[in-house]
Amino acid sequence: MSFDQSKWVWSNGRIVPWEDATTHVSAHALHYGTGVFEGMRCYETADGPALFRLEEHLDRLYQSAAVHGMDIPYTSEELTEAICELIDRHDFKSCYVRPLCFYGTSSLSLHPARCPLEVVILVWPWAPYLGAEGLERGVRVTVSPWRKFHSEMMPTTAKASGQYINSVLAVREAVNRGFDEALLLDVEGNVAEGSGENLFIVKDGQVFTNDERHSILLGITRDAVIQIAQDLGYEVNVGPISLSDLLNSDEAFFTGTAAEVTPIREVDGTLINHGDRGPVTKEIQSAFFAATSGRHQRYRDWLTFVVPQTVAGIH
Ligand SMILES: Cc1ncc(COP(=O)(O)O)c(C=O)c1O
Repeated sequence: MSFDQSKWVWSNGRIVPWEDATTHVSAHALHYGTGVFEGMRCYETADGPALFRLEEHLDRLYQSAAVHGMDIPYTSEELTEAICELIDRHDFKSCYVRPLCFYGTSSLSLHPARCPLEVVILVWPWAPYLGAEGLERGVRVTVSPWRKFHSEMMPTTAKASGQYINSVLAVREAVNRGFDEALLLDVEGNVAEGSGENLFIVKDGQVFTNDERHSILLGITRDAVIQIAQDLGYEVNVGPISLSDLLNSDEAFFTGTAAEVTPIREVDGTLINHGDRGPVTKEIQSAFFAATSGRHQRYRDWLTFVVPQTVAGIH
């Protein structure tokens, strides 16, 4: 991943050159992780670049902010306009979009009362998070010695900067041991999620995933995949997933904005589906990419075109 092609940042209401989008080392968020953010993707379609489930991502941003008592001084229409303008200015056909709201400089008391809320948006081209090969062949995963924090410790359904230290610990430990990604268990020992992805398994032709009772971020890709799987005729069961459910599954895959739909081919040496991408995973993955690229008519509503479609009949 690199920011090489990113030339501008939207910062507190205006687009500024990338190198001018700086913050002071006394910023509250730098010390205590007091920020909330989103990650969404903009995909290439035949009708120009389009953001996948922008509305849902912005809704979650406002919800995360509310949980942490932050009042975002921009409406979702203003943020939508800012995101589209920023992508258009870069002329990106596809990219990742990162809005971030964080407490800036005023004091380093833990209570951020007087700190200004800074709002920025970054965009950059980002290849599949777990690799193009991972999308096809699947990734190797290990169960992390780090547990996912419980919702009584921190709100798991909000997407706040500081909580990602938990994910960073887990993924570093996993990569150090030669794996592609970490899988975190919840405090009760059930499967929670990957360091940046939700988990699905397939068993006997049915699809299973967990929910917020297992300390997960309620992923927007997870929601899309539940709908896609149901539309494909699969029964989707939402409930606890134990480690042995995962190890004995026919197929398993991760979902996330960055990781999209990535098959899991191995968990700590146990092969899933003979160590490759399973047929149900492949079918769901194909429908997902048809949706993101605008080829699937049923899911056109999930797309927000960067340059609005005005020609009659196109959206
Ligand atoms: C911890 C965690 N779980 C799950 C997800 C998947 O969420 P989404 O599909 O909304 O990107 C993410 C990605 O942001 C994440 O960071």
